[in-house]
Amino acid sequence: MSDCKCNRRAFIKGAGAALGVTAAVGAGFATYAMKKTWDPLPSVVAAGVTEVDVSGMKDGQLAQVEFRGKPVFVLKKTADMQKNDKRDIVIGDARFTVVIAICTHLGCIPAYNDGEKKFLCACHGGVFDENGVNTFGPPPTPMQIPAFRIDGQKIVLGEEGPEYKKMTALA
Ligand code: FES
Repeated sequence: MSDCKCNRRAFIKGAGAALGVTAAVGAGFATYAMKKTWDPLPSVVAAGVTEVDVSGMKDGQLAQVEFRGKPVFVLKKTADMQKNDKRDIVIGDARFTVVIAICTHLGCIPAYNDGEKKFLCACHGGVFDENGVNTFGPPPTPMQIPAFRIDGQKIVLGEEGPEYKKMTALA
């Protein structure tokens, strides 16, 4: 009988350890996934302006930077993503979606789903396409594009360049 208790105790201990390992591995994957989704870009913040160097970005890569205390998504679009002349920031042959990463419903931060190429807001199921345009659920408007200026391979957030002025005239 006492052997039986020991075995049960050993089994429970083992199962607990296995669960701990699974949880640790799961947390590791979650951290990796988050890091992979939100790779920081080289950026310089000064006097309300954030300079974002996009020269090293790969097609399909999403990065997050901070602009005036708010998160901003920078997505380098792939060739198969739909062009949006009213919202794309174009640098050479590359097109970028740059939006303030705040859901226009009640202010949650959406997450980018790489497979679906959509921004999904977990709070109430809002969906934005790869251009940051609301396509489903309660968000009433697209995610906001911050004022920007293009300086070579840098996007300068917080300054109104001619490309931004043209974009706002089209909107
Ligand atoms: S805050 Fe995003 S859907 Fe409600």
